[in-house]
Amino acid sequence: MIQLFHVSKIYPPNTAALKDINLQIAKGELVFLAGPSGAGKTTLLKLLFREEEPSRGQIIIHGKDVTKLNSRGVARLRQQIGLVFQEFKFLPHMTALDNVALAALVTGVPRQESYTKAYQLLRELGLREKYDAKPPALSGGEQQRVAIARALMNDPMVVLADEPTGNLDANLADETMRLFREIRQRGTTIIIASHDLDLSQRYGTRVISLQEGYLVDDLSPLKEGRAG
Ligand SMILES: Nc1ncnc2c1ncn2[C@@H]1O[C@H](COP(=O)(O)OP(=O)(O)OP(=O)(O)O)[C@@H](O)[C@H]1O
Ligand SMILES: [Mg+2]
Repeated sequence: MIQLFHVSKIYPPNTAALKDINLQIAKGELVFLAGPSGAGKTTLLKLLFREEEPSRGQIIIHGKDVTKLNSRGVARLRQQIGLVFQEFKFLPHMTALDNVALAALVTGVPRQESYTKAYQLLRELGLREKYDAKPPALSGGEQQRVAIARALMNDPMVVLADEPTGNLDANLADETMRLFREIRQRGTTIIIASHDLDLSQRYGTRVISLQEGYLVDDLSPLKEGRAG
């Protein structure tokens, strides 16, 4: 469960990126964060993994107030969160497979197990031919899929994705959404910031809309229209 109480974020000196956001997301929900450029979508995601801290308000993730975590707590929080962001931060001299496997290796998962899983995820994401390619030699969409595979390596409780289908054609976007839905079946909470409202409508998920930092709409098709 993720809860936000009266959360505001002001970037110095005076950009109010989020204004008094109240929000609850249950475990295993798949949520779209919608809204125009500059609405605060990325900022909201960044608050959830403590890349940024709120200026006001409280953020509770699985019972813990993330604004009160020490550095060890922050590290633990981030281990439970899979990130799919625009800046992929790959190691450019390692192969796609190595980059994905590394996510598990660094947490102490044995080599064989890490690589088996990395293979499997890359294959599911249609990158069978690209295991050995280095990230700079991959297209934007391919890099995005490597990033998704990496985010899923440690079976995170929460996946935060910022425009994960932005560089993908319609087929791959569908494929990606199918994968997200599969992960969701295991109880993982997934929050996707996206301009692609078509995608969210097609998948019939809850859509939280931001505008100029305000939460202006929270629509859940499962609950007959309006919720929250
Ligand atoms: N590090 C920062 N320092 C100062 N202002 C920032 C910073 N990051 C974002 N902002 C500002 O905060 C507001 C919200 O930005 P944010 O990146 O959250 O929007 P967004 O909804 O993700 O937009 P987009 O759809 O373009 O990605 C914008 O006005 C932006 O200029
Ligand atoms: Mg953004």
